[in-house]
Amino acid sequence: MVGDIKAENIIDYMVSAIVMLDSRLRIVTANPAFEEMVDLSIRRMKDMPIKHIFVETTISPRALAYALKRSTSFTQRDISITLPDGKELLVDLDVTIISKPPYEGNLVVEIRQVEHHHRVRQEDQMLAQHHAARDLIRALAHEIKNPLGGVRGAAQLLERSLPSEELKEFTGIIIDEVDRLTKVVDRMLGPKSKPNMLRTNIHEVAERVRQLVSIELPENIHFKIDYDPSIPDLLADKELLIQAALNIARNASQILQEQGGKGRITLRTRAQRQVYIDQKHYRLAVRMDIEDNGPGIEQERLKTIFYPMVTGRSGGTGLGLSIAQALVNQHLGIIDVISRPGKTVFSIFLPIIDKKHSGIKACNKI
Ligand SMILES: Nc1ncnc2c1ncn2[C@@H]1O[C@H](COP(=O)(O)OP(=O)(O)OP(=O)(O)O)[C@@H](O)[C@H]1O
Ligand SMILES: [Mg+2]
Repeated sequence: MVGDIKAENIIDYMVSAIVMLDSRLRIVTANPAFEEMVDLSIRRMKDMPIKHIFVETTISPRALAYALKRSTSFTQRDISITLPDGKELLVDLDVTIISKPPYEGNLVVEIRQVEHHHRVRQEDQMLAQHHAARDLIRALAHEIKNPLGGVRGAAQLLERSLPSEELKEFTGIIIDEVDRLTKVVDRMLGPKSKPNMLRTNIHEVAERVRQLVSIELPENIHFKIDYDPSIPDLLADKELLIQAALNIARNASQILQEQGGKGRITLRTRAQRQVYIDQKHYRLAVRMDIEDNGPGIEQERLKTIFYPMVTGRSGGTGLGLSIAQALVNQHLGIIDVISRPGKTVFSIFLPIIDKKHSGIKACNKI
């Protein structure tokens, strides 16, 4: 004991998540950081087998068995852990076997989330890329749109003075193509009006996306929902969020249809505590996952998919994700993605900010 603080209370103040397991790998106790990480209270977790919380993990069972047998400690890096709500964590962990009574034979597992830091770093890079790309597009779009107006006007004048219908077919092509190009440039520029921020329930957004995507799905692709009804409302432009989530869900639907066979899209909502977005800390955020069991995105490609004009689809314009990211950024949120063959998850993070502290621009009504 030092001063008035008992040594065991110190773990309550630690940032690392710490859990003690008995030799049958059932939970004995855990610190608040662990409770927060898995979003369960110790009262509910007590005596629960750890595999009910770490539903999938890459912890080596051999290393664990060896450590238990020999009473030796071990460290493993970059372990992936999937929690019951489907959230995947990337962690480093230290396992210590206690050799002295009263906890002899128990394990103390210390978990440090590396994903947390990765995520922040990835965001920095992603947001910087995104801002640079947007500036470039704005400049380019401006340069393209002006002459397009001239070309269209000239083609219309020409059409009127052409002697035959046959020749008018060509001016028709010019006008149609100019219109198509203008539409693409407008899409690149994103919505013109400022967002109309109103109190919104994320499930209104989720349900619209489900309805719109479900009608387009063939029978062999199943659409599953997994909502957390306790999520509080947030300040958002519902239509813009629907557009963002729809762009992501349509990609999943397209890739699954292309692949053929049985497919599954899962739409999941969760409240997320203690989130860092663009280096800012938020006490509470909404996370909306759009998951598919398609072929996944190669790691190299993953870095660029939010760039405009990056597409892997014939007929794709490569704008869907870049627009989705811009729309979510307008809500001070971010889209994150993890992908491997058989599992791609796009997660939309949206901070829940009370009106007083809202840094959201153009908050016209509530
Ligand atoms: N769930 C997914 N699984 C596999 N690849 C994906 C997934 N989502 C996106 N991609 C890849 O990312 C690329 C970029 O997507 P994005 O929505 O930005 O453009 P697009 O779908 O090609 O065109 P569009 O502008 O019509 O949306 C896609 O072409 C596809 O190759
Ligand atoms: Mg798309």
